[in-house]
This record gives sequence, C-alpha cells and structure tokens, in this order.
Amino acid sequence: MNQMTPPAPLQIIPETAPFSQEQRSWLNGFFAGLVSLDNAVTPLSPEQGEAVMKGAAGDGDDGEAPWHDQTMPLAERMKLAEGRPIRRKMMAAMAQQDCGQCGYNCHDYSEVIANKSEARLNLCVPGGKETARMLKSLYEELEKAPAVVSAPAAAATVAPAVAPAGEPGRSRDNPAIATFLSRRQVNKPGSEKETWHIEFDLTQAGLDYVVGDSFGVFAANDLGLVDQIIAMLGASHMTEVNGKPLREVLLRDVSLSPAPDTLFELISFVTGGAQREKARALASGDDPDGDAANLDVLAALQKFAGVRPHPEAFVEALEPLQPRLYSISSSHNATPGRLSLTVDAVRYVIGKRKRLGLASTFLAERINPGDTLGVYVQKAHGFGLPQDPNTPIIMIGPGTGIAPFRAFLHDRQATRAPGRNWLFFGHQRSEYDFFYSDELNAMKASGLLTRLSLAWSRDGAEKFYVQDRMREVGRELWNWLADGAHVYVCGDAKRMAKDVERALVDITAQFGARSTDEAIAFVADLKKKGRYQQDVY
Ligand SMILES: Cc1cc2nc3c(=O)[nH]c(=O)nc-3n(C[C@H](O)[C@H](O)[C@H](O)COP(=O)(O)OP(=O)(O)OC[C@H]3O[C@@H](n4cnc5c(N)ncnc54)[C@H](O)[C@@H]3O)c2cc1C
Ligand SMILES: NC(=O)c1ccc[n+]([C@@H]2O[C@H](COP(=O)([O-])OP(=O)(O)OC[C@H]3O[C@@H](n4cnc5c(N)ncnc54)[C@H](OP(=O)(O)O)[C@@H]3O)[C@@H](O)[C@H]2O)c1
Repeated sequence: MNQMTPPAPLQIIPETAPFSQEQRSWLNGFFAGLVSLDNAVTPLSPEQGEAVMKGAAGDGDDGEAPWHDQTMPLAERMKLAEGRPIRRKMMAAMAQQDCGQCGYNCHDYSEVIANKSEARLNLCVPGGKETARMLKSLYEELEKAPAVVSAPAAAATVAPAVAPAGEPGRSRDNPAIATFLSRRQVNKPGSEKETWHIEFDLTQAGLDYVVGDSFGVFAANDLGLVDQIIAMLGASHMTEVNGKPLREVLLRDVSLSPAPDTLFELISFVTGGAQREKARALASGDDPDGDAANLDVLAALQKFAGVRPHPEAFVEALEPLQPRLYSISSSHNATPGRLSLTVDAVRYVIGKRKRLGLASTFLAERINPGDTLGVYVQKAHGFGLPQDPNTPIIMIGPGTGIAPFRAFLHDRQATRAPGRNWLFFGHQRSEYDFFYSDELNAMKASGLLTRLSLAWSRDGAEKFYVQDRMREVGRELWNWLADGAHVYVCGDAKRMAKDVERALVDITAQFGARSTDEAIAFVADLKKKGRYQQDVY
C-alpha cells in the first residue's frame, strides 16, 4: 500500500526576507491559499518579500481614518487620504455613514473592492454618483498599480454583513418575501411632513429580527414615470429587453433616479456635435449647463430630446435598482411575525415636475394591502439595547429617528426589562407632528417611559431642537449617565447627530466638572464602550 506523505509546507517567503517566524508562516499560508499547488511556485525574492511587507504594514498607513465623518465633503476626505494606499483612499471615498445599505460598513466595503471580492462600485447610496466616480477612478489606479498585494487587505475575511447564499431575507443579495399589511399616517393634516407607520407580515418569510436592526425593502418605480420614459424612447410597453417586457424591466430592475454617467456615455455615442460634447462632459462629471444635479433618467432624455437610444442599450446603461433601508420600529418579542417601519415620504418639485423618492413613496402609495415584496433584515452593528435589562437608556430621536426607539420601548415592555427609559423626541409642530403620541403618553402613564422630553422646532418664534431640551435638563441627564445609562441617537446624520453630540459634551463639561477636552474624551470613551450608539442616515 502506498503511504501518502503529507506535502511539505509551501515556502514562498524566503528565509532571508525580513519577517518574524510568525509573519513568515502567516504569509506562506496566505500565499499558499492564493496559488494553486499544481502551479510551479517561485519563492519571492527578498526584494519582493520586502514589497509585500510594505503592503502588510499598510504602505505606511497607520490604520486611522481621520476622514470618517459623514459631514465632511468628498474633496476634503480625499485630501486627508492623500499618500495612503488605494484601499484606504477607497474608504475615504465612501459617505462615512456606516449605514449598511451596501451590505457592509464603509471600511469593509472598501476592503472587499480592493481585494476584488466585490465588483460593484455603485453600492454607496448616500455617496451617490460622486462616490461611484471616485471609486471607479481608484479602481482603475488599482488595476494599473504593480501587483503588490496588501496582505491585510487581500486576506481580510470581510464578508458581506450576512452571507449572500444563506437563508433568504438575511442580506440584500438574497431577499425574502413579505406581505404588506397596512399604512397609516402618523402626522395630522396640516403638517408639512408626510410620515407613515407601515406594517408587514413576516410569517411567510419566517424572518425574525432584534430591535436596532434595519429592514431592506425592494421597491418598484412609479408607473407614470416608466411610461413617460418609454414614450421618450419611442418604444412600446411590450418592447422586449432580454426576454422581458421593457415596462417590467423599467418598473422593477433599474434605477430611474440620478442619470448615471453610462447613460450620458451612451447618449454621446448616438448623437453628434454640441450635443455629443455636452453628453461627454456630463459623463465625466462636468456640469456644462449647471443642471447636472437635477438630471434623473427622464430629465436626461428630455435634455437630449430626439436622441433615442435602442431600449436594450438604454437599459444596459442604467444602474440596477437598489433596495432602501429603514429602521425597524417594532419588536419581534412584542409582535412576532409582524414588523413596522416609520417612513417619511420624499416628494419634491424640480422645474415643473414632481419628483418621488423611490421607496418612501412606494410604501406611502404604490403598494397595497396583501401585495408582496422582496425584503431583508440588515443586522445592526453596534446599535441595540444593553445586555443588562436593568441598564437605564436615553434615546434621542427627532422625526423618523423615533423609529428604533419605539421598537426599544415595545421590547422593554414585552420583556419586562426593569431599566429606566428616557426619550427625547422632537419635530416641527406639537399639534401635527407628535408621532405615536397616544402610545407614548400611555407608556408614560404606565411608568415604562420614565421621562419623555419633547422639542418642537416650529411652534415658537425661535427654533428649538432636541439638543436644546437636553441642555435644559443637563443635570438630570448627567445623573443618568453617572448611573451607567446608555445613550442612543437616531435620525439625521448631517446636522442633528453632530449637534446632539456637541450638547452631550457640553453637559458632561458643565455637570461632570470636566474641561472641554476631558468632556470630549469622556464622550469618545462612551462610544468606545458601546454606551453611545448611533443609527443615523
Ligand atoms: C440605516 C438607515 C435607516 C433609515 N431609516 C429610516 C427611517 O426609519 N425612516 C425614513 O423615513 N428613512 C429612513 N432612512 C432613509 C431611507 O433609507 C431612504 O433614504 C429614504 O426613504 C429616501 O429613499 P427614497 O427611495 O424614497 O428616495 P430616493 O429615490 O432615494 O430619493 C432621495 C434622494 O432625492 C433627493 N432629494 C430629496 N429631497 C430633495 C429635495 N427637496 N430637493 C432635491 N433633491 C432631493 C436626494 O438626492 C435624496 O438622496 C434610513 C436610512 C438608513 C441608511
Ligand atoms: N435620503 C433622503 O431623501 C431622506 C428621506 C427621508 C429623511 N431623510 C433625512 O432623514 C432625516 C430625518 O428626516 P425626518 O423627516 O424624520 O425629520 P427631520 O427633517 O430630521 O426633522 C425632524 C426635526 O429635527 C429638526 N432639526 C433640524 N435640524 C436639526 C438639528 N441640527 N438638530 C436637531 N434637530 C434638527 C427639524 O426642525 P426644522 O426642520 O424645523 O429645522 C425637525 O423638528 C433628515 O436628515 C432627512 O433629511 C432623508
């Protein structure tokens, strides 16, 4: 009988390369995984080894991300990333919201693009076209760069937030089917806002979730918009594209929102002269007529009226339709099999045309009770109730930011968690915009909601925001913090989240007897310990 001798460990990194034994064996293992054992492998020269080492150390990258601030413009973020490896520049190109819409956080999305396990460069919804453009150009740079592998980047076992091939409904790449049950408006007539409480039945999907998670929704475009586009193309509803009616493809498969660069490229191919120049300029991110920000797909076709790309080429030039995420506003423990959202309908007018936010208006008006849709649960990363049910919590959620906190409160009620609960809610006007007022008042009466602090921004002559209310009750807030309370913030990422953090720093300085620097360090430490968590968008 032939005795199989185990293969000797593959020695790719030479003994003379400047690594510790541990580093050498890790790198050997890493490269052994990359190359087929059937291939002849030439050990790296000491110079190549050194180049890898440089990569392993991150090309002088210190691992810090000073650009990780969602309020910082792209140009400033890219400036801070100058001199860093391409994968780090890719991270700086992301919108820095860690919102999870791409299926990763900002760091992990950049790593998987750099290690080429994710080919889609257009998944950063809040970053929009400018992020996609920057990623494309960095990717081209990466392709041209000499093949020095950045070991941590290439080896990073960064998986999508949830494995795509797993159970349906656990990632954007493998949605489950839910049934739309109902909607009701949570602001009263007279409000400047239009916000809906939306309910789904999850029994068919068999999905569960924990409070703090978000819900991904695959919406369909507006039929009126689709039909206008079909008319602009001079096509018919039944025109076939890849074996499907064009109308169906435009309704469900492609984004009709910002016109992508590829659409302008296509237009430049099928037109000439000044039109062609203009389309080329738009395709490369220039704004020749100062209207680029307003050009959705229909507006682009109207701008180049008379240009009629072939429907097949047209569809190919569009981006796939992306799901949208919403904070879950219900608790599985309180209402198993049911899930609710709190959704502000996005509607605005540009020129003479009404524009509709895709998913928010789909939920507000285009889906009917009993209809089904594709959905998934996006697990929260670092946003959830404290493990100890006795821990007091302070929740700050103006506008739709209340969504996860309604869920927290229902969960604490269902699980009889004894911890104290304090909610800061604010919106425009007390008369029209006090979402869930009956529920919240009942929770207050029952003692579940220990404190309810409200801030109405348009009731008085001066704006008054949640952080103004926080400052008013700063001493009590500090006492809760001193008792170990966890702080949660949800809602607007651009302004509110920063202003609330500033208020917390000021309260810490004033009532915690600290200098501003010490107070900043205290709040940073709360974040590090998971006692200050944000879900902002
Ligand atoms: C983790 C997470 C949780 C979220 N939770 C909630 C939630 O609980 N409730 C909620 O309502 N939303 C929530 N959102 C936001 C939500 O995902 C969508 O972004 C939002 O509903 C808009 O999507 P849409 O498809 O309706 O609009 P889109 O079709 O995406 O259109 C929105 C875009 O329209 C443009 N736009 C909007 N208003 C104007 C204007 N006045 N003028 C010009 N352009 C404009 C902007 O470019 C904007 O990005 C959350 C987002 C994340 C990432
Ligand atoms: N991507 C999208 O298209 C989309 C869709 C929906 C919501 N959003 C964003 O999601 C967030 C939530 O929207 P929403 O409709 O729930 O409510 P919102 O617009 O955030 O308003 C809620 C309350 O917050 C107040 N506010 C404004 N600036 C503030 C600040 N710096 N600090 C504290 N409070 C502040 C508002 O006051 P005033 O308005 O009176 O100043 C209002 O009273 C917003 O950023 C909104 O733009 C984005």
